[in-house]
Amino acid sequence: MERRRLGATDMVASVLGFGGSEIGYQRVSGRTVARLLEGALDAGLNVVDTAECYDDSEVLIGKAIGARRRDYHLFTKCGHSGGWGRADWRPAALLKSLERSVQRLATDHVDLVQLHSCSLDVLRKGDVIAALERARERGLTRYVGYSGDGEAARYAVECGRFDTLQTSVSIADQEAIDLTLPLARARNVGVIAKRPIANAAWRHARKPAESYHQPYWMRLRALDYDFLRAGDAAATALRFTLGVPGVHTAIVGTTKPERWKENAATLEAGRLDAGAFERIRARWREVATPSWDGQV
Ligand SMILES: NC(=O)c1ccc[n+]([C@@H]2O[C@H](COP(=O)([O-])OP(=O)(O)OC[C@H]3O[C@@H](n4cnc5c(N)ncnc54)[C@H](OP(=O)(O)O)[C@@H]3O)[C@@H](O)[C@H]2O)c1
Repeated sequence: MERRRLGATDMVASVLGFGGSEIGYQRVSGRTVARLLEGALDAGLNVVDTAECYDDSEVLIGKAIGARRRDYHLFTKCGHSGGWGRADWRPAALLKSLERSVQRLATDHVDLVQLHSCSLDVLRKGDVIAALERARERGLTRYVGYSGDGEAARYAVECGRFDTLQTSVSIADQEAIDLTLPLARARNVGVIAKRPIANAAWRHARKPAESYHQPYWMRLRALDYDFLRAGDAAATALRFTLGVPGVHTAIVGTTKPERWKENAATLEAGRLDAGAFERIRARWREVATPSWDGQV
């Protein structure tokens, strides 16, 4: 498994990381999560990303691999400890949320804590960033990051106070490729691609009921990439994301232990060739409308 240094941090990340939202939201059993994560660590994964609000995701991860804490870089987020719909950006609440995360993750510190998609206005006030910096001083986290998209993500890179940016990058979400990633690269900010295979939204023959999957499903219908009709759409999607300049790791969410190996195996083919990569970019430029912004 290829590894890339995450910006200016000391972390050298496997290009394929684990996204922890699905195991929480879909209430995957502890046994399955243990099988999934143990197998992934054994096969070379060293990036585990979760958040304060993905239901029991942090607890499941802590129980499954807490005893192997030295084997992986552990990322979490803060801002919604009461649930996604109930944001709380007060500095004290952020610190309390991180203290809870550390406990739930069965560790004494995380490697990275990320502001979980607060708005540009909240970011600009600065006290949320100062709260993360205090957490770093207290040893609760080694690095601080922003997770989000659009102008807020751009500001997060510009302000110079974050070590990493987690942002949506995929065949169905290319705003960041022009808006934030060139600057992140120039400033040596670590980039974690979230939603890196566009939720595999092409799998649904009809519009999915889950609203989270709908924008990518609709975009992919319009983009109508040839490769979506082939059997290896996930491989092309993942190799596209990891071929975007500035991306260091892609955190794929899954509920299935066998996926890790399947996705890791597809990466053995290396980067997409330049022609295939450019065709995906060109199609996006041709079809994307201004409303196709980075999806949180
Ligand atoms: N604001 C934020 O900070 C934010 C927002 C969104 C996401 N995230 C982070 O990003 C991570 C990834 O995002 P995501 O899970 O929404 O999107 P994703 O990784 O693009 O897609 C995950 C979906 O793809 C499926 N999948 C995985 N490998 C596949 C394959 N080889 N073939 C077909 N389907 C495959 C999974 O289903 P199976 O269960 O069937 O494998 C799952 O439904 C999250 O877990 C979270 O850590 C952060």
